[in-house]
Amino acid sequence: MDLTQFLQQLDELTASAVGTFKAALDQDALEAARIDFLGAKKGQLKAVQKHFGAVAKEDRPVAGQRFNETKQAIEAALENAQQRLQSGGGAEAQGDPQFDPTLPGQPFQLGHLHPITQTIEELKDIMGRLGFSVADGPEIEDVWHNFEALNIPAAHPARDPLDNFYLGVAAAGDADRRNELLLRSQTSTVQIRVMENCEPPVRIISLGRVYRPDTADATHYPMFHQMEGLLVDYQVTMADLQSVLRLFATSYLGEDVHIRFRPSFFPFTEPSVEVDYHWNDQWVEFGGAGMVDPNVLKAVGYDPAKVNGFAFGLGVERLCMRRHGITDIREFYKNDIRFLHQF
Ligand code: DAH
Repeated sequence: MDLTQFLQQLDELTASAVGTFKAALDQDALEAARIDFLGAKKGQLKAVQKHFGAVAKEDRPVAGQRFNETKQAIEAALENAQQRLQSGGGAEAQGDPQFDPTLPGQPFQLGHLHPITQTIEELKDIMGRLGFSVADGPEIEDVWHNFEALNIPAAHPARDPLDNFYLGVAAAGDADRRNELLLRSQTSTVQIRVMENCEPPVRIISLGRVYRPDTADATHYPMFHQMEGLLVDYQVTMADLQSVLRLFATSYLGEDVHIRFRPSFFPFTEPSVEVDYHWNDQWVEFGGAGMVDPNVLKAVGYDPAKVNGFAFGLGVERLCMRRHGITDIREFYKNDIRFLHQF
């Protein structure tokens, strides 16, 4: 017998003895098991010990040490079993006082959608029922779509480098820098992308991220989400705009929402308005809107003498915050699970 075989026998014996002692239900069973494993004459440990002499001489120190450890382990298991029976326990598998089968299990931690994603899905749903389909545009945009085609000329303050995340990439031969790239500052870019690619009538919304170098505070964040809407058709009026926005507000915030337009200015709409919702005794501004400026229609090749339309842009975070009573926009982006968990 070589050392490996001898050690293997010791391991098997330990496992078998420990298991048998643990399963013993009373003193008689345990005593029988003790004699079987540790009996001085015919015990199994004794039987293995008899093979010690067959182990090569140089391996005997290791074999001897392991034999002693095995003996100690089996004796300790016997001791444990004796204590268990004395304190009234049955077999360990059935009677472990540490194990309480009535305790609830460990629940799986399932993730869920971020509150802003949930809001976006809901807004798409509401606007879908009003007949608006969803359009998409890139977050890295060029100056043409972000400004120029939206009637925001080069000298306009909205194009100030300090108010935008320009990426500093201008294509060669692009003298008027229309291809210069930036992180889009508004989803109005998608109006242009859609109209460049389809003929009127158009009825779309677009939801996505926009970027502005604002210092983060309770109401500002350098990245936030907007919902853009655009409807171009024949003989569209401000009353249509107002109806759509009121229906939208009623669906999202509840039946008691009133809507108010305040005169304003945006380069891409004429006339332009700020949109306020009256909700919970307060007027709150949700975004801008207006009738699409003829210059914008011309920029995409539409004929302003034939078609017209309205557009609007609302802040998604603002809507979600109003609805849930959230007072700090930064909560959305801290990744604090205690906050996110509530939605
Ligand atoms: N793009 C504007 C902003 O980011 C919001 C806006 C105002 C969008 C009027 C529109 C609109 O479509 O008609 O402040």
